[in-house]
Amino acid sequence: MTLEEKMGQLAQYPSQWSDTGPSVPAGRKEDVRAGKVGSFLSHYGAEATQEMQEIAVTESRLGIPLLFAYDVVHGYRTIFPIPLGEASSFNPDLARRTARAAAREATAGGVHWTFAPMIDLSREPRWGRVMEGAGEDPYLNSILARARVQGFQGPSVAADTTVMATAKHFVGYGAPQAGRDYHTVDISKRTLHEIYLPPVYAALDAGARSVMPGFNEIAGIPMHAHDRLINGLLRNDWNWDGVVVSDYTAIWELKKHGIADTDLSAGIQALEAGVDVDMVSGIYGDTLATGVQEGRLRLDDVNRAVRRVLRAKWDAGLFEDPFRYGSPEREDEVILSDSHRDLARTAAQQSMVLLKNEDEVLPLGDGVETLAVIGPLADDARTILGEWAGAGRAEDAISVLDALQNRTGVDVRYVPGLPDVRSTDMSGVDDAVDAVRQADAAILVLGEHYSMSGEAASRTSIDLPGRQQDLADAVTATGTPTAAVLLNGRPLALSTLDDSVPAILEAWYPGTEAGPAVADVLFGEVNPSGKLPMTFPRETGQIPIFYNHKNTGRPPVQDQDYTSTYLDTHWTPLYPFGHGLSYTSFAYGAPKLNKGSITINDTLRMTVDVSNTGDRAGTEVVQLYVEDSTASVTPRVKELRGMKRVHLSPGETKTVRFAVTPEDLTFIGPRMRRIVEPGHFHLHVGTSSADVQTSTFQLTGSTTPIPVTEISSPTQ
Ligand code: BGC
Repeated sequence: MTLEEKMGQLAQYPSQWSDTGPSVPAGRKEDVRAGKVGSFLSHYGAEATQEMQEIAVTESRLGIPLLFAYDVVHGYRTIFPIPLGEASSFNPDLARRTARAAAREATAGGVHWTFAPMIDLSREPRWGRVMEGAGEDPYLNSILARARVQGFQGPSVAADTTVMATAKHFVGYGAPQAGRDYHTVDISKRTLHEIYLPPVYAALDAGARSVMPGFNEIAGIPMHAHDRLINGLLRNDWNWDGVVVSDYTAIWELKKHGIADTDLSAGIQALEAGVDVDMVSGIYGDTLATGVQEGRLRLDDVNRAVRRVLRAKWDAGLFEDPFRYGSPEREDEVILSDSHRDLARTAAQQSMVLLKNEDEVLPLGDGVETLAVIGPLADDARTILGEWAGAGRAEDAISVLDALQNRTGVDVRYVPGLPDVRSTDMSGVDDAVDAVRQADAAILVLGEHYSMSGEAASRTSIDLPGRQQDLADAVTATGTPTAAVLLNGRPLALSTLDDSVPAILEAWYPGTEAGPAVADVLFGEVNPSGKLPMTFPRETGQIPIFYNHKNTGRPPVQDQDYTSTYLDTHWTPLYPFGHGLSYTSFAYGAPKLNKGSITINDTLRMTVDVSNTGDRAGTEVVQLYVEDSTASVTPRVKELRGMKRVHLSPGETKTVRFAVTPEDLTFIGPRMRRIVEPGHFHLHVGTSSADVQTSTFQLTGSTTPIPVTEISSPTQ
């Protein structure tokens, strides 16, 4: 390969959108013929990808096939709930299945490589990208990262129905200052290792073939130049050897960060730090060769990066048959297939969280003959898909209003009340109130337009936008039983809504089958079982607020002076992590431990009886948290270590079992090594992080900390 051809393999360019779909401009086709392009971003669809592949393999000198990459984040054409919504299912098997289905559709459209899963843990709901992740907890993030990688890549990336997964963004992008996207990140080494790195490790341990650095910096070094973390941690310490692809123009942005004064310097720093592929900036393709020619960049570093890209193509089977992915026949067969739509409906049902349900307003009973549906999002078939909706289309999706109108036996009266969620025009509210007065029940569909969450969609206030709260107040003042359905991509501060509306169902952005899934839950054909993967504060000013915080020397005691509280609001969240109600009720028996103490080689077994004490079948997500009572580093008040989804018929009791090993008790010690310390530990089991029962045991056998070398998340 010539130096130019090598640089070509490292260059990735975007496709353009034309009326008929993605298209590559003529000049870029010439680049493909000249061997100057290794991969495309957002070029998808069987016909479009085959056309470009044909040019690459028959008209370029070496005939090296192209890779087609796309952000298949929560579906390709069949759109599943946004990842934060799906995380509410606490169900890794579901995440695996939706990623698998997304891969089947994407590969039918010629895609080889997805830029997902997003493994950015975040405690920052002002940041719009929390919708793409799995919330605030390292354990839940890790379990779901693993499942999503397994789903995308299947048993082998060589299969023509699987895509290469990308763990993004490496690392800490979810902690931007003040929640403003792309802003500086400043995380302590301890928090980085304890909180932000475990999901990255889990994704790579599950076999993710690719990593994308974040737009952020860590400790003053932008991630696209972070040799210590990319070459050092990922490649040397963790022994991972996949492809590192830059984020969009992020190599060029090293100049804006202020660590490079020329394109060439930016390119050299990125390549030397271990970034193999340059997405969009063009620096590797246009400029980097001069670095080698001038003796400023080692050819070895270039060769290593090229080898990784070629190996990815080899492993995908493209040298054997460059056209093996993607065909119009397969597209017809799998895209929006019945089974994928069914899965989308199941996933949407499992992702919904019943935040509140006073007076059993939900489910809507047989007595509801006239139903008022209020709120501009009710008939918005685009918003229900959320951001990062791949090739998803509003015309494939079923809005909440459509689904409710399709039900027999209910007369639906729709009045939006407001022109859109951000509008201050209240002139339609009276009509909404009239409709509600004449109805047996009202459904308020409220939330954020899809463009209000996702990339570059930060907010300073996470209240309900516009005048939606006023609309809700006017509706509930009628006295008609009312439930709110929320469509949004981040935790919202809902204190006022919680005061005014008796029932609230958090539906997130549920995807293509949003409407039917919402209707299933509202009418009680499906009993909600979702739990919050991220804390909902009372007020924006409480951010950052998360369940696994530390105690401090003056733990909060509400209304007690000189403890860690606020003057103007309760210190606790409105809805805690793990919260989610059901149409039935569950009772927990006393947790039982098989012993009161264990040694470093033992496993502790805990059982707890959970009963369905209501009159409907339901699924409870039983959660297990550990707490170190005393340690050499301040412990967190609770840390999730287990979860079980348990289905119970009315009156049924099941014994739920958890195993706790010393590995579950490890933490990063004072010398920044992962250790476990003998002593007392509490196990909390329950229905949310704030509603648990506690038992205590002891880890014995040593008086000193025990270093752990072989553990599942050696994030140091
Ligand atoms: C995002 C990435 C995404 C890329 C390509 C960037 O703006 O940060 O997550 O993969 O665009 O679409």
